[in-house]
Amino acid sequence: MFKEPICIGQTMNLEELLQLKETALNEAKAAKDVQEIEDIRIKYLSRKGIMPAVMKDLRNVAPEERGVFGKTANELKNELTKNLSESKDSMATKSADSLDFDFTLPGEWKNIGKAHPISMVIDSVVDIFSKLGFTVAEGQDIEDKYHNFEALNTPMYHPSLDQLDTFWFNDEQLLRTQTSPVQIRIMEKTKPPVRIVTPGRCYRRDTTDATHSANFHQIEGLYVDENVSLADLKSVLAYFAKEMMGKDVKVRFRPHFFPFTEPSVECDFSCHVCGGKGCRVCKGSGWIEIAGAGMVDPRVFKYVGYEGVTGFAFGMGIERIAMIKYGIPDIRFLYENDSRFLNQF
Ligand code: PHE
Repeated sequence: MFKEPICIGQTMNLEELLQLKETALNEAKAAKDVQEIEDIRIKYLSRKGIMPAVMKDLRNVAPEERGVFGKTANELKNELTKNLSESKDSMATKSADSLDFDFTLPGEWKNIGKAHPISMVIDSVVDIFSKLGFTVAEGQDIEDKYHNFEALNTPMYHPSLDQLDTFWFNDEQLLRTQTSPVQIRIMEKTKPPVRIVTPGRCYRRDTTDATHSANFHQIEGLYVDENVSLADLKSVLAYFAKEMMGKDVKVRFRPHFFPFTEPSVECDFSCHVCGGKGCRVCKGSGWIEIAGAGMVDPRVFKYVGYEGVTGFAFGMGIERIAMIKYGIPDIRFLYENDSRFLNQF
């Protein structure tokens, strides 16, 4: 190790400078890490380091040695700077090598989550109805007999109240079989006019197969105001059909029965696969049943205390729309969370 006092307070001769050069370069060679390299740089090259002091003292060097001395001092500075920076670079490369990491490889792709097809359908149905001024209302999965049946004008002897059709917790509480009880809950706490859609889970004691599941999703719509007519219902569902399935879709309404609407209809869309000619998907009929609907039965209005208004309601199965829109052959795919299936959306 070079002894520092050599250049402090006494003028160095050429021989001493050459010795200093050798020492400095040897020290640089021996440095083991980036910190040691930095220490050497500070010791020799920084403003308060050895080399500026040596240079400052140049005028005291014997005149015949001065030229060579200055040249040697410059060489020392340049070589030392170069060596230090080279060994710093090679240390950085070495530590990268020791990571066993190839910087030239493309990045590893991380799968990010995305919406489930059921959520995607709910979102687009809600979007379409919100353009018509409908807002979203939330209900509750655990309902009581009153809201799920009675206030919906469903008599106590109706088959849907059977133990075999509905999941009952006790004589009063059950898992809702439809989103229709949300109609009642909203009307109970809001004055007309009402214009809501309400998506959510429903439960029925169905045996699971390709088109049935004991847990499925519906979206319910309710529009109550003065002078709402069946024509309004038809035009709203026809608008929805075109927005959801494309402008070529046709819509038809068939008379039906629901306890809480009068008159009641079922709404079919022309089959998107065959365009209405008849195929395997629509079982040859050219039509696919999409929604139950109708004019709110006056008895329902009586339960919630509404007077002087009319309204329409509709309810449709989300899974059904998802299956039709995306060509999903089996409802069970929607619940298995197989990423090979989900990644296709
Ligand atoms: N709740 C009915 C069902 O589950 C659908 C429906 C909703 C019908 C609103 C008429 C009005 O089948």
